[in-house]
Amino acid sequence: MTPDLFADQPIEVTTERLSEGAIVLRHFASAQAPDLLSEIEHITTVAPLRHMKTPGGHSMSVAMSCCGCWGWITDAKGYRYQAEDPCSGAPWPIMPPVFASLARSAALAAGYGDFTPNACLINRYEPGAKMGLHQDKNEQDFSQPVVSVSLGLSQVFQFGGLTRSARPKNIPLAHGDVVVWGGPSRLRYHGVLTLKAGAHPLTGACRYNLTFRCAR
Ligand code: SIN
Ligand code: FE2
Repeated sequence: MTPDLFADQPIEVTTERLSEGAIVLRHFASAQAPDLLSEIEHITTVAPLRHMKTPGGHSMSVAMSCCGCWGWITDAKGYRYQAEDPCSGAPWPIMPPVFASLARSAALAAGYGDFTPNACLINRYEPGAKMGLHQDKNEQDFSQPVVSVSLGLSQVFQFGGLTRSARPKNIPLAHGDVVVWGGPSRLRYHGVLTLKAGAHPLTGACRYNLTFRCAR
């Protein structure tokens, strides 16, 4: 039997600066990934992943759920945060401590010392799913950053400027990578390109993204 020389080695975190206030923390969530995925499993049995409709009536290709005090939703009435899951009328599942502590420590590593996320959006991308360039601007306080965790298949993240027309950087994000953007970059446009088919040992044919924000 060949011993796995690296089985007990901690995974090294490396960083890539994207812009003032924005950074990629490679592998930051790798160690917690199995726990994060089992929490996603619990949350989505209570608040199932669903394809929400944009205000324009289009069904989103990404399937979404939420946890925490506030959940981000979209429907004919617009984009907003709501304390209850519109599918059940019940409050969103609580944010698991492992989610909150990971988000806080990633924010700290990016230079944001006092992040208190109260909203977590859970995105599930299957092959063919994407998210066009947009700003995260439904939150009341832009002094708090956005923390975004990638799990499973790799997908190309686009990080643009403060206007839609600025040419975005394309950054492949792999399992365990975390992106944090805040300060002067808080309202930068971002999105993900179409997910290509693949297989990941922990998530199978999909990618999950957890996006943490302070909604109010
Ligand atoms: C988002 O902006 O809500 C998702 C970004 C991603 O999936 O990486
Ligand atoms: Fe976003």
